[in-house]
Amino acid sequence: MKKRILSGMRPTGRLHLGHLVGALNNWVGLQDSYECFYMVADWHALMSEYEDPKGLREATYEMVRDFLATGLDPNKSAIFIQSHVPEHLELAMVFSDITPLGWVERCPTYKEQLREIKGRDLTTYGFLGYPILQAADIAVYKANSVPVGVDQIPHLELTREVIRRFNTLYKKNLFPEPEPILTSRPKLLGLDNRKMSKSYANYIALSDTPKEIEKKVGQMITDPARIKLTDKGHPDICNVFTYYTTFAKPEVTAEARQWCEGAKLGCTECKRNFSKIISSYLEPIRTKHEKITNSDIDDILHNGAKKAKSNASKTMQEVRQLIDFVI
Ligand code: TRP
Repeated sequence: MKKRILSGMRPTGRLHLGHLVGALNNWVGLQDSYECFYMVADWHALMSEYEDPKGLREATYEMVRDFLATGLDPNKSAIFIQSHVPEHLELAMVFSDITPLGWVERCPTYKEQLREIKGRDLTTYGFLGYPILQAADIAVYKANSVPVGVDQIPHLELTREVIRRFNTLYKKNLFPEPEPILTSRPKLLGLDNRKMSKSYANYIALSDTPKEIEKKVGQMITDPARIKLTDKGHPDICNVFTYYTTFAKPEVTAEARQWCEGAKLGCTECKRNFSKIISSYLEPIRTKHEKITNSDIDDILHNGAKKAKSNASKTMQEVRQLIDFVI
């Protein structure tokens, strides 16, 4: 029997290269060796967007379109919306009951987001419970593995703790302790060398046109010590070079290293060359994206929710029995 995977993303609209390298390419590659459940975490989005949730619907369609265009295959994986499977919330309720307040209050992502995210009031009851719902998302499918970016590690750790507590309290190993699956790729920084993020507007979107890409790559920061063409550069500290190592063929990357270290080609040309590489990398995704209609997506999400729900409701039956509810 194949092992199980669950992962999810909050609907933020069109995805960017950071999502692709940090998660999505990994999701696609795992589809044959695992039984996969991939979801749009709309309840999680509401936790931070509750004041102005308009746009969540469109963002959900756009994100699923990008999932499909990148290679998530509804014949292999269940692709669904979190809120279409209410069992996530039921299990989150049980997990809320058994999780000591200190565990969520001390969660490093919680403290960081309260500090960093401005212009939104995140001091709500729901937002404190963010990782509890995430734990329920995973456990309700008894997932063994969770492909995520490194930023999600604290949530996975908390998930394992909550599951351990559940299994101990109710004396049954109902839920496996899930392992993270991280990508081997180095993390892609944004155009300005900060974390690539929608809110910093420092990303290349999967939908960007070759023209937009050339403009954005042109703004990227290279080796600051390389001022003139004749200065020898240090590719290992150059953000553009990291992008080469991620998206270009090894021989092309080796050539770029020589251009730089041998002071043979300027950063401007090197970037122009790279924008062609990334444009053709994204071309098939862009083409496929344009062909997927909302009604295709509705069908896929409907079937995905059906498959997800049949698994999740079985788990909830077992949970109800264990906690001695009348079923
Ligand atoms: N918190 C995740 C993120 O921000 C999204 C998410 C919600 C998730 N539920 C999940 C990821 C369950 C993995 C498993 O990216």
